[in-house]
Amino acid sequence: MDEKKVMLSGIQPSGDLHLGNYLGPLRHWPEMLAEFDCYFFMADLHTITVRQEPAQLRRRVLTQVAQYIACGLDPEKCTIFIQSHVPAHAQLGWVLDCYTMFGELSRMTQFKDKSSKHKDNINAGLFTYPALMAADILLYQPDFVPVGEDQKQHVEICRDIAERFNGIYGDVFKVPAPYIAKVGARIMSLNDPSSKMSKSNPEGCVFLMEKPEDIARKFKRAVTDSDTVNPVRYDPQTKPGVSNLIQIYAAATGRSFADIESEFQGRGYGAFKPVVGEAVVETLRPIREETERLLADKAYLESVYKAGAEKAEYVANKTLRKVYKKVGFVPR
Ligand code: TYM
Repeated sequence: MDEKKVMLSGIQPSGDLHLGNYLGPLRHWPEMLAEFDCYFFMADLHTITVRQEPAQLRRRVLTQVAQYIACGLDPEKCTIFIQSHVPAHAQLGWVLDCYTMFGELSRMTQFKDKSSKHKDNINAGLFTYPALMAADILLYQPDFVPVGEDQKQHVEICRDIAERFNGIYGDVFKVPAPYIAKVGARIMSLNDPSSKMSKSNPEGCVFLMEKPEDIARKFKRAVTDSDTVNPVRYDPQTKPGVSNLIQIYAAATGRSFADIESEFQGRGYGAFKPVVGEAVVETLRPIREETERLLADKAYLESVYKAGAEKAEYVANKTLRKVYKKVGFVPR
């Protein structure tokens, strides 16, 4: 019997993958393949909470499948699938909607944030999104959910929903824990270190498929403070810009903050910023090249996500059947 612990995570194909997605959760996923039974998916159902251009969405989902593999997710050693290919997500999502409270959804930071940005489209899906995310997770009974800092609140509400459901029906769901890396969990925008790096601010965001010269330019222009005496120091409160760059450099190279500070002691931002840019370019280069190679082989990508959907569906349906039975639905 397979005794391995289970791990699951997903990323929305709502934009091209960026350095925050990579340095936060994604770069840690391949390390987990040996130890855990892993599920990684493209959260496409989630993306339509905000209007998408259909052709762009299809392109991004396929690119994301290729990027997962290019980042080191060996499809032979984990399950890679597209969320909309496994109907159990939407099915359990509905059930969990009925076990999730209006009040707790109203407290979600991401809902408040997105609804203020998309005032013309504050749809019900945007509001109930955490219940669908809980379904994504609970279907696979994972022990851990590796995410960046900004998704912690959603994993916590998932735990609350699971506990509420278990409280009524017995131990149906395993209650998972968020897994948040120490370095890279919250990468900030290069041109606005007070907000997290995200595709909505493209000048402050580095995309995985971006050209090296564009990446280098964005780092050279990165916002830092006006400190001139020994400026390369980690202090997120008073020096958010350079602290973000130190964090990125540490995540990209595996070096400690202290080590980086001592290398750049007495040197200015002019010396530091291009070095960070170069480290990021070199980290992303093999991923970009491998993604391009994989994108030329659509048949292979299709074989990966089709096999993934089958494996995922088998596991997901087992949980869904159990839930349907518990709530009292008549079996077919
Ligand atoms: P999403 O698509 O916004 O982000 C994907 C992952 O990237 C992390 N992340 C960051 N980490 C560090 N710094 C940043 N600037 C940064 N920006 C994004 C996010 O924390 C996340 O881990 N709801 C999820 C997708 C999802 C999901 C799931 C995740 C749907 N179902 C089930 C885990 C399990 C989301 O919108 O993430």
